[in-house]
Amino acid sequence: MTSTTFVQSNNNNIIEGIGNTPLIELKSFSTDKVKIFAKLEWFNPFGSVKDRAALWMIKDAEERKILKKDKSIIIEPTSGNTGIALTGIASHLGYKVEIVIPEKVSEETKNILRKLGATLHETSDDLCPRVGAGTDQSIALAYAISKPRPDTYYMPNQYDNDSNYLAHYQSTGPEIWKQTHGKVTHFFTGCGTGGTITGTGTYLKEKDDNIQVVAIQAQKNHLLQGLRNFEESAKPDLFLRREKVVDEWYTATNEKSFEMVKTLAEKENILVGPSSGSVMASMYDHIKNHNEGIFVGIFADDGRKFQSLYLQQNLFSAEEYNKYLTNCRLLPSLIYQ
Ligand SMILES: Cc1ncc(COP(=O)(O)O)c(C=O)c1O
Repeated sequence: MTSTTFVQSNNNNIIEGIGNTPLIELKSFSTDKVKIFAKLEWFNPFGSVKDRAALWMIKDAEERKILKKDKSIIIEPTSGNTGIALTGIASHLGYKVEIVIPEKVSEETKNILRKLGATLHETSDDLCPRVGAGTDQSIALAYAISKPRPDTYYMPNQYDNDSNYLAHYQSTGPEIWKQTHGKVTHFFTGCGTGGTITGTGTYLKEKDDNIQVVAIQAQKNHLLQGLRNFEESAKPDLFLRREKVVDEWYTATNEKSFEMVKTLAEKENILVGPSSGSVMASMYDHIKNHNEGIFVGIFADDGRKFQSLYLQQNLFSAEEYNKYLTNCRLLPSLIYQ
């Protein structure tokens, strides 16, 4: 088994830099029999796993001639990463972007979006008390803006767009299969729209039906940006269509996820986003029940968007955060320049 070295992809062509992210072994967690690997999705040019879905959705709309250069506005409800990816890719290709976003998303995320050129529409739980989770309100608002103006607006709708699934079926899945030389036994990922789990999980199971697919949801009332709790918030249609790919569910608590964020910084020298802490918590809990295996978890984004959250949660002091920021293996990603 080889783990990819930390080489920055050639971003002269930004679009070509999407995918082929490194898979690294987390040696402080691996045991003699169970090897733990993380796929570092923040190596994508716009900093997260969502670059893949955004690219596939935009390309699909271009192929279907829905988008017109310098005229179309892409509008999307998102808790951050899809918005960042869509804005980065769309600006590169000559489209404007408007993002509908729950106001509780971190300020760092919103600032990145504004800097990349997106217009933000914020939704608040107070305005929409019935659902409360934010994202569902964002979907409704994005529809309200875009539906009456089909000549101007295009809403990819990651929650129901099969290109989101296909992105992972055609890229994340094959990469993991290749990087583990077909030896992966368990696949772990957090779930937002369900694109990552259904696309990657379907591909891997087609290769080897014994591969176990573990879906991670957040606890209720959570602080784990990018994840959902599926009692609080409905499962998206995209997910429902291929839900049977999931073998097992794991519910990540804020507490365990943040604890793992800290452990990963201390022991593995990586500063991850909260949802990677959730994935790590799930892999860690599974180690004791398995005598052998090759576990692969998706680490969807890094910790650079979460300084305010981490300090507010007393996870790190400002000095610690800066130390990890300096020492950790992070890329000088486009979105932090
Ligand atoms: C920050 C973040 N964004 C997105 C995702 C994946 O979401 P989706 O189910 O929409 O593919 C995850 C999953 O871990 C995540 O942590």
